[in-house]
Amino acid sequence: MAIVLLGFMGVGKSTVGEKLSSLLNLPYIDLDTAIIEKEGKSIPEIFEQYGEAYFRKVEHEILAQYLPQDIVLSTGGGIVENEDNMRLLKENHFNIWLDASHEVIFKRIAFDKNRPNAHNKSQNEIKKLYNSRVSRYNEIAYIKVSNEDDITSCVQQIHNLIMTDDEN
Ligand code: S3P
Repeated sequence: MAIVLLGFMGVGKSTVGEKLSSLLNLPYIDLDTAIIEKEGKSIPEIFEQYGEAYFRKVEHEILAQYLPQDIVLSTGGGIVENEDNMRLLKENHFNIWLDASHEVIFKRIAFDKNRPNAHNKSQNEIKKLYNSRVSRYNEIAYIKVSNEDDITSCVQQIHNLIMTDDEN
């Protein structure tokens, strides 16, 4: 059963995921990286050449492949856009929602060319997208952890939760 990191773009899912995997001594998989490797193309190239719907289809296939494994899995912020992903994630126990305010998020991701859903978007557009996804993260999250200031305490909090959980 995977330990899944969820949350909007720029909340630090990959950084936290890597640190957590070494603390827990579990393999680490970044879903976006797995998509890039499978397709042999960058995320902006996939969006541009095949469209977001195609990206979501590949994202779903890779999620379904990795979810049953004992790994730490970082997902992309838009994983909750797909109903099939929501269905799969609802059955998973350790869904860790990393969060930060949309102001902090905007500062971290604005103008990032590697993120087609953030690139050239205004702060208001990012806020709208963030707000449209919050209830979906909330619906499937086991716990919400803030990753706004101190990453060490964020990772520690998640680690403690996992180590003391009955499911572990
Ligand atoms: C996306 C988030 C990205 C990546 C793709 C789409 C989104 O992942 O999957 O660019 O729609 O929120 P990160 O959350 O790691 O940036």
